[in-house]
Parts: sequence; structure tokens; C-alpha cells
Amino acid sequence: MPKIVIAIDGFSSCGKSTTAKQVAARMGYAYIDTGAMYRSVTLYFLENHIALTNPKAVLDALPHIHITFNFNPKTGRNETCLNGLNVEEEIRKMYISNIVSEVSAIPEVRYAMVAQQQKLGRRRGVVMDGRDIGTKVFPDAELKVFMTADAVIRAQRRQIELLQKGEMIGLDVILENLKKRDFIDSNRSEGPLRKAEDAIELDTSYLTLDEQIDWVIQQADEKISSL
Ligand code: DC
Repeated sequence: MPKIVIAIDGFSSCGKSTTAKQVAARMGYAYIDTGAMYRSVTLYFLENHIALTNPKAVLDALPHIHITFNFNPKTGRNETCLNGLNVEEEIRKMYISNIVSEVSAIPEVRYAMVAQQQKLGRRRGVVMDGRDIGTKVFPDAELKVFMTADAVIRAQRRQIELLQKGEMIGLDVILENLKKRDFIDSNRSEGPLRKAEDAIELDTSYLTLDEQIDWVIQQADEKISSL
């Protein structure tokens, strides 16, 4: 059976990663969380006091940033590692969410991440989620899904996620962060968030996670059998 690339793009907190992860597991594909890569770069810049407004400092730092996804057999999950250290929990925190869109708008950061993502998916058989996967990273992806959901519903889902990790943040603060990120992500010059012309839109506002997963798998099966 031919292996395809499944690109899942969309606004923040639409359920892209949760869906993508499960679709990959059920299809026996690799899952690449490209948001985790931009989050890891953000953490590195913060820890090493790299000024986002200093292009030379940013360029010099990039070769020192090595991001890998390691499978942890104990949890059965992939963990994002930054220079060999597990940063999976740290990169999901609010202080990272607050500036990740500014970091991911820096063209040099994007060039470096896009090149790594293309390498990771070159053998196909991957589900990749992000903002520019269908438009920039894999414009030739066989299946492109563009996820949307009502902003308040997205903020509520994010609040529950953060609560489960012990971070108690007000809904208005989360909503503000989501809107700000969506704005920056959609309006940057390099790789802005856009629905690819050949992407299929999926509004997840009133869908359960299982419904979202089943829908993507059905689309993928149809695509594969048409090849
Ligand atoms: O999917 P996420 O919320 O973890 O992504 C974090 C940030 O990274 C998001 O605000 C935009 C940016 N991002 C991006 O610019 N391009 C991608 N392919 C993935 C994420």
C-alpha cells in the first residue's frame, strides 16, 4: 500500500495534535508535531538570552538547536527533546505560548525548521501538524486537512489541557493568547497560516475527538485507494 503525507494545518488549539497523533498511531505512521519544534526554539532562545530582534544572534544560535522526538516506552508517548533533554512539559507552558508566535515569525527560524521537517517526512508515511505544512513544507502532500473551531471552544479546551498539567489560567487570558497567536501566525511574511487551495476544511467545534480521527482516517483511506 502506498504511504502518503497527511498535512494537518489550522488555528491554535483546534485539536490538530491530538487528532494527528491518533491518526498516525492507527495508520502506523510517524507523527511530527511542528509546533513543538517552534516551542523548543523559543525555550532555547529564552534560556540563552537570545534577543529576537538581533538577527545575527538568532542565526548564530540556530545551528546549536537540535530537536528530536524520542519514544518513551514507559508512557507510550513521543517526547520532544531539545539538545538531548526532555522538554515536552516545559514547552507547553503559558510563558512559551506567549512568545512562540513571535519566534516562529522570524524567517531564519522558519527556514531552518522547514528544512528539518522536509527531511523528517521525506520517506512519507507521516502525519505532520502545524500552520504551513500543506502550503510550504509539503505542498505535494496527498491529504491536506485545514482545521477550524470556534475561538471560545478552543480556549475552553486549552484551559482544560493546562489544568490537567497543573496550570490554572483564566479563560479570558487564554482566549487573548489564542487570538494574538492566530493574528501573528496569519499575518507574518514567511509561511503564514493559510488554507491550501486543495485542503479539505474540518470544523471541529462540535465534533468529538473520535469523530475527528475517524473523519481524517476515512479521507486518508479514500486517498490511498485512489492512488
Ligand atoms: O501548534 P502549537 O500551538 O504548538 O504551535 C505553537 C506556535 O508555533 C504557534 O503559535 C505557531 C507556530 N507554528 C508555526 O508557525 N508553524 C508551524 N508549522 C507550527 C507552529
